[in-house]
Amino acid sequence: MSIDRQTRNRIDRYIDRPNTGRALPFNARSRAARPNDSGPWASDTVAHLADPENASPVGNPTAGAREGNGTPVFLDERVYFGQIEAAEKEQLTEELDQFLMANTWPSDAASQAQIGKAFVEHIKRAVPRISQALQKAKQGKYDAVYITGLPVDLNCARIVLLAMTQILGEPFNYSCQNGGELVMELRPIEGSVGNTNSTRDDFALHTDDAAVPDAARTEFICLYGIVNPPNTLTGFAPTIDALRDLRASTSFVNALVDVLKERRFRFRFPTSFNFEEELWSGPCSVIKVNDDGNAETRFPSFAVKPVRDDDFIAHAAIAVFRASLELNVFEVPIDQGCFLAFNNSRGVHKRGAIGKGERLVLRAYSIQSLDFLREVTGEPGPIFSIDPIVEIAGT
Ligand SMILES: [Fe+2]
Repeated sequence: MSIDRQTRNRIDRYIDRPNTGRALPFNARSRAARPNDSGPWASDTVAHLADPENASPVGNPTAGAREGNGTPVFLDERVYFGQIEAAEKEQLTEELDQFLMANTWPSDAASQAQIGKAFVEHIKRAVPRISQALQKAKQGKYDAVYITGLPVDLNCARIVLLAMTQILGEPFNYSCQNGGELVMELRPIEGSVGNTNSTRDDFALHTDDAAVPDAARTEFICLYGIVNPPNTLTGFAPTIDALRDLRASTSFVNALVDVLKERRFRFRFPTSFNFEEELWSGPCSVIKVNDDGNAETRFPSFAVKPVRDDDFIAHAAIAVFRASLELNVFEVPIDQGCFLAFNNSRGVHKRGAIGKGERLVLRAYSIQSLDFLREVTGEPGPIFSIDPIVEIAGT
């Protein structure tokens, strides 16, 4: 196994602090095996990850861990790692076969959402622990859920994706984004603008749709790999980890964290919304700490600015927060049959440069309730116009 120095340093950093209970960054570059293309299923060897159902208590870096190509992997108390086992595959295949005999993929988003909803009971029956992990994420007990070994056939994948998204909330999208599809297809497009989901370059740390008001913004982002070039990794940094490190620093840095809680920032609406001109939100805070200690985050690192250009303290707050998040990123590949769902408010995500070759990752958004979106747009959903939402964002 060869690990680059940067990854080695990150691993060492975690090992030096075994009581934090954090996940080691799982890095595709350390993998000897990649999923194969045989049949509708991803290879078992895609990732050697421990299953928390069988794991020892969090906090011990060796507890419950397996050796994955020499890289010890252990569990984070807020991230669920799971691999579909052989018996579960068999059961899920059976459920999918029966379901596909009785249902065809509809063309309209509302019917697609119904199909996803109908398949939830099959997921619960075939892979109950996965369903339970998603329910725990919905309850706030996990910030992210990563699962390997799911079906890779497109017909199966979009149904499984929508069902898993449905367990987390109500699937939806904006009509201006990715063709207004409920199951968005993320593919690289040559010549795309930087920091968009279609660029082949690095897509820097961000939360999705930070300029959009809370009740109209995605809570969970669900990604499902169909094709992923080697060494193409998706990263997630839990905000609470980044804040903990900053709080352990100097009083000046602590003061900067407090600045992040003030409405001293504006966020740019995503380029992918295709507005004619650049649109920015009204004054917002970057983080909001809840009573339970969790922090809601809005942080597109490339599309955030202080309300006042000369607010150097706010500029410094952005810089230290970004640096701390970078140090707390764990990375996973969204390979064939891999699923990653993460809470868009509890952490910040990124994607490294896309390797050579084709890539297709399916994405679905979920939100706890469609009520606010329906009220603001006057539309039934699950696909909504963005313009009425922009109006209330105080641009
Ligand atoms: Fe994103």
